[in-house]
Amino acid sequence: MHHISQVLNDDSVGELVSVRGWVYRIRTSGKISFIVLRDSTGLIQCVASSDSLSREEFEKLSSLTVESSVMLTGKVKKDSRAVTGYELEISSSLIYQRNQMFPITKDKGEEFLLDNRHLWLRSREFSSVLRIRATLFKSFRDYLDENEYYEVQGPMMVSTATEGGSTLFKVPFFEDVVSLTQSSQFYLETMIFSLEKVYTIAPSFRAEKSRTRRHLTEYWHAEGEAAWFSNEDMMKEEEKMIEYMVKQVLERNHDDLITLGRDISKLESVKAPFPRFKYSEIIKKSSEFGLSLKYGDDFGADEERAITMNFDRPIFVTHYPLELKAFYHRPDPDSPGEALCHDLLAPEGIGEIIGGGERIWELDVLEERMKNASLNPQDYYWYVDLRKYGSVPHSGFGLGLDRMAWWITKRDTIRDAIPFPRTVRRIRP
Ligand code: 4AD
Repeated sequence: MHHISQVLNDDSVGELVSVRGWVYRIRTSGKISFIVLRDSTGLIQCVASSDSLSREEFEKLSSLTVESSVMLTGKVKKDSRAVTGYELEISSSLIYQRNQMFPITKDKGEEFLLDNRHLWLRSREFSSVLRIRATLFKSFRDYLDENEYYEVQGPMMVSTATEGGSTLFKVPFFEDVVSLTQSSQFYLETMIFSLEKVYTIAPSFRAEKSRTRRHLTEYWHAEGEAAWFSNEDMMKEEEKMIEYMVKQVLERNHDDLITLGRDISKLESVKAPFPRFKYSEIIKKSSEFGLSLKYGDDFGADEERAITMNFDRPIFVTHYPLELKAFYHRPDPDSPGEALCHDLLAPEGIGEIIGGGERIWELDVLEERMKNASLNPQDYYWYVDLRKYGSVPHSGFGLGLDRMAWWITKRDTIRDAIPFPRTVRRIRP
């Protein structure tokens, strides 16, 4: 048995090989049928000829439907007219399943494709998206593993909010009600006291009603946390990490990027260091981006789109006003009212893919900020404890892997960059 990609070379010419997979398309003209077969590695044109096959065998193959599953055996021939330059002259076959008509045909609308996502995943485009996602997950892990981080795990069912109560999903928990995690950050913070540098890849949940192109209610969150790191140290780490991840996609997924029609030169310019702007600078420059922002305004999808259209690589925005950020961000001692934090905004109109920064590590400052946020320190006793026993400066970040996949694959919406999107309106399939 061969994978299709193993057969597409001159050494295979004249060899008798078997390939198996799914019918990608089929065209019949009287005495000859062209079956383009697909497997996870590629496409090959296979030819059934009534001259060399029994009548029964020829008719069986000629009447196959798209996505039927088969094994085809035959000799390999070079043919520049064939879709991938080689052709298999079928001498025998095994049909695993002959399909009804495959429901997905050309020009189906977005909702139809979302309802049939379980079938649409087989398309060439979606297979490419899936492969690129695999590279992003792997390269995130590889980068952090190679830089002395340990992979750890936190719980998904929690009793605290990290990013504010308004986007918490509540779920029944025996006699009680608990929340689904918005971020594993606080749990990562507990583990830096054992391992210093830690990361996790886990789902995060946000009960966000937003119907923007970039919001999911469940997304894959890649988070890191490091003892002794300042906000600037963390940004340096992230820019090297993002550069590495993009480079891995360029190396491993070149053909996928072509399939998706991605402008590769845009990804090739993703090189560290990334420009850094203070929030206040962005406000001052806002008219250059066609925006009229005033100090204190938050950036939503539209503002970030307008800003990032002007850059060829991601940019950091730092020092947001404390009021715009969650309570755990460390106020900058040198810049009152501003947080030692950063967002990383991806270019080409994508916007925020990372949120991170330095954490409050002084007990009194944390207590003060929790009071301002009307949080009960008792609920967060374990988080507060970290500031009582050997507290150290530390920083961390959260990268939305689906946001990153959306940027790299440049689909219309984030929903087309994850196999099974969960949004306000979608919980199936
Ligand atoms: O900026 P956020 O809310 O930060 C945190 O959750 C921090 N606790 C992370 C940390 O420091 N460990 O979210 C981080 C990232 C965003 O930049 C974005 O990429 C992604 O998570 N994200 C979403 N992705 C898809 N759909 C949503 N609704 C998202 N909300 C956040």
